[in-house]
Amino acid sequence: MSNPLFATKSLDQLQADADSAHGLRRTLTALDLTLLGVGAIIGTGIFVLTGRAAAANAGPAVALSFVIAGIASVFAGLCYAEMASMIPIAGSAYTYAYATMGELVAWIIGWDLILEYLVGAATVSVGWSGYVVAFVKHATGIDLPPAWTTAPVIWSEATHQMQWTGAIINVPAMLVTLAVTAVLVVGIKESARFNSIIVFVKLAVVLMFIAFAAPYVRTENWHPFIPENTGVFGKFGFSGVMQGATMVFFAYIGFDAVSTAAQEAKNPQRDLPIGILGSLAVCTVLYIVVSLILTGVVSYTKLSVPHPIAVGIAVTGKRWLETVVEIGAVAGLSSVMLVMLLGQPRIFFSMAHDGLFSPVAARIHPRFGTPYVTTIITGVVCAVAGGLLPIDILGELTSIGTLFAFVLVSVGVMILRLKRPDAPRAFKVPGGPYLVPIGGVVTSGALMYTATTHTLIRLFVWMAIGLVIYAAYGRKHSKLRASNAR
Ligand code: ALA
Repeated sequence: MSNPLFATKSLDQLQADADSAHGLRRTLTALDLTLLGVGAIIGTGIFVLTGRAAAANAGPAVALSFVIAGIASVFAGLCYAEMASMIPIAGSAYTYAYATMGELVAWIIGWDLILEYLVGAATVSVGWSGYVVAFVKHATGIDLPPAWTTAPVIWSEATHQMQWTGAIINVPAMLVTLAVTAVLVVGIKESARFNSIIVFVKLAVVLMFIAFAAPYVRTENWHPFIPENTGVFGKFGFSGVMQGATMVFFAYIGFDAVSTAAQEAKNPQRDLPIGILGSLAVCTVLYIVVSLILTGVVSYTKLSVPHPIAVGIAVTGKRWLETVVEIGAVAGLSSVMLVMLLGQPRIFFSMAHDGLFSPVAARIHPRFGTPYVTTIITGVVCAVAGGLLPIDILGELTSIGTLFAFVLVSVGVMILRLKRPDAPRAFKVPGGPYLVPIGGVVTSGALMYTATTHTLIRLFVWMAIGLVIYAAYGRKHSKLRASNAR
């Protein structure tokens, strides 16, 4: 008998799951899905990390870092699109793994996705808090107390230990998480509508930045385009461009969240690839243009600030524009959180539906039609993480967790092409079964390789905790095992 740890769900089983939809409502159109993607993608990455990566690692060549991170994301995006068009089910990469590599790998990836969505949302909540503090100061002159707006611990690179900061808890980060959670419990259509409005605000702010700042570009700021390496790995030169790519990779995270809304899409086979690739294309172009303009208007040496885009727009001398950019960023970061906190409960939901989590997690709200139990659990855990932990630890964990998922999804595409070559695929990656998936494994793997050792250790510890939970609960309650045993 084959090992039940590697038992896979058949495509027919998955299709039956998708058709029953478990009571989720199918209301989202291709445009809703694309906007959901843009809502998840444009956030802390472009509004905060571009400046840091330019100042510390890549100089004006941060635009090249965006190109490299974009290539890794496009490979992965194509693989997600093929999978989503074949298996349009809420669980995203988790479900794809269940169909291709078996239950154990599915569990690993489902557990890993918690890092991407839940920890990702916590990262953005801390970025949101930082922008709000800066905005309040800018608008009213009031300094909000750091004891209540920052994390009580930081990671010291010098001693390689956590240190107390003297702060108590990050209240704004917690409040925004709980507010977004409340919106999500009320309904996905309402959430998508709220998201669409914010996405337009966010896009308008980015386009205004491009339009108003472009005339102030001074080409001498682009020389040297790749500043000479300082002798330290990752500090400018080619290694700096690569390290910059690892940092700004965070900016691309989110397009895959589109696939978690598969069971709420009207025409998932056609519209999921449109949503995933459309949102990724829009954001890639905007990121490259914004990073070029930003380093063209301000010397990269001055960009290590919490709100580099606002600093860039300040060269126009229009104060109102600075305020608009700050408000746009605050609104924009909220929508990133919205999509991430929408994705996470739907993964828990799929896992619970398969018996790998308690059935309580699969409950749907009788009136709102949303997976409210998992939404609330996710929101509370995320609020605690955002309240207590610093942005760099959260952000690095998010990136490594996401890259790991990208690698597994790319491998999954190859496996499914071999195992089920004739299964209908509404969308296929171009170039045959290997080119794009191998490109995905290599590029995401290379970005993982540049992560710090401590981040990798945290990833392993997290995975080990997940395996213990699987052994203690999931393995025993798996519905697939139960049906195979009959
Ligand atoms: N891509 C999202 C951001 O930049 C996660 O905030």
